[in-house]
Amino acid sequence: MKLILKIIKIFPPEASHIIALHCLNILYKLKILNLFFPKFEKDSFEFVGLNFTNKLGTAAGLDKNGDFINCLGALGFGFIEVGTITPLPQSGNPKPRVFRLSKDSAVINRLGFNNKGVEHLVKNLQQKKYKGVVGVNIGANKNSRDQKRIDDYLICFERVADYADYITINISSPNTPELRNLHNEKNIKLLIKSVEEKSRLINYSGPIFLKISPDEPANLIKQIAGLIEESQLTGLIISNTTVKKNNLIEDKYKHYQGGLSGKPLMEQSTKSLKIIKEAFPQLPIIGVGGVMSKYDFDTKISSGASLVQIYTGFIIHGPQIIKQILSKH
Ligand SMILES: Cc1cc2nc3c(=O)[nH]c(=O)nc-3n(C[C@H](O)[C@H](O)[C@H](O)COP(=O)(O)O)c2cc1C
Repeated sequence: MKLILKIIKIFPPEASHIIALHCLNILYKLKILNLFFPKFEKDSFEFVGLNFTNKLGTAAGLDKNGDFINCLGALGFGFIEVGTITPLPQSGNPKPRVFRLSKDSAVINRLGFNNKGVEHLVKNLQQKKYKGVVGVNIGANKNSRDQKRIDDYLICFERVADYADYITINISSPNTPELRNLHNEKNIKLLIKSVEEKSRLINYSGPIFLKISPDEPANLIKQIAGLIEESQLTGLIISNTTVKKNNLIEDKYKHYQGGLSGKPLMEQSTKSLKIIKEAFPQLPIIGVGGVMSKYDFDTKISSGASLVQIYTGFIIHGPQIIKQILSKH
């Protein structure tokens, strides 16, 4: 299996990611996935009204369209977050747009919400066999601005509400122009209010998370956390990728556009997590960013995360990392 992973990594990062997921899917369909990667079961527990088999889930972006829910679930993740999905399909930014930084154990991506659109995802959600928790991460199409951008979130929200165990409002991708402006007080208040109204209107009673950037100042993220605590929304996902690339070993990538994930993100995203936990101890938080080992996973939990998500660590180390993280020793 290690050899197969090495061969897959010969391809450019975006292609190797898709090939790897298809390989896992073939093993799943042949019903031999668990011969290679035995499923790791733990005692189930409740969080935000949902039942989880363990605290490790996939971060958004790994399976944007919900094409791989069953095989990712079969690997033993405690939950799967699909998306980011937008109302209309879109192709994203020109390639190459994903870069592997081997020396830094990191990835830079500027995909720009490439996805097959919400209808495609809904079909996959309707047909999925995986019985675990599936969250849906929603966003806005690239050219939607102002009220149209809010409407995009509401369209996705309403469309996925019947099939999502929880919904994540993603305002923190650095690759959709001006999306991060939604962190500003006026914009976030309007978005929260609009989501609350929609939620009431359609009788959605599941959890709703807001996924934030690690690059905003402490006072702003605390202000956002305060708004979430007062609202009908449930909690925060901390965090998305960072645009800060000053701590890289591989110098040439410092000026690459896009979001940085993996090891160099761990410190910054965990710092944001701690700031929010300290200020709002009761607020449910999902921690993500830079988890490359069991130690990192434990650090996220001890810093205040109730659940942890992983992306870059999974694509660098492969499915073995699930067992490494969830084993007791
Ligand atoms: C290639 C790639 C694509 C991503 N796409 C999305 C996305 O569509 N929506 C989102 O909320 N986050 C997206 N992310 C961010 C991840 O969900 C996660 O927040 C971030 O990568 C930090 O976690 P990690 O260090 O474990 O990778 C993406 C990350 C990568 C590397």
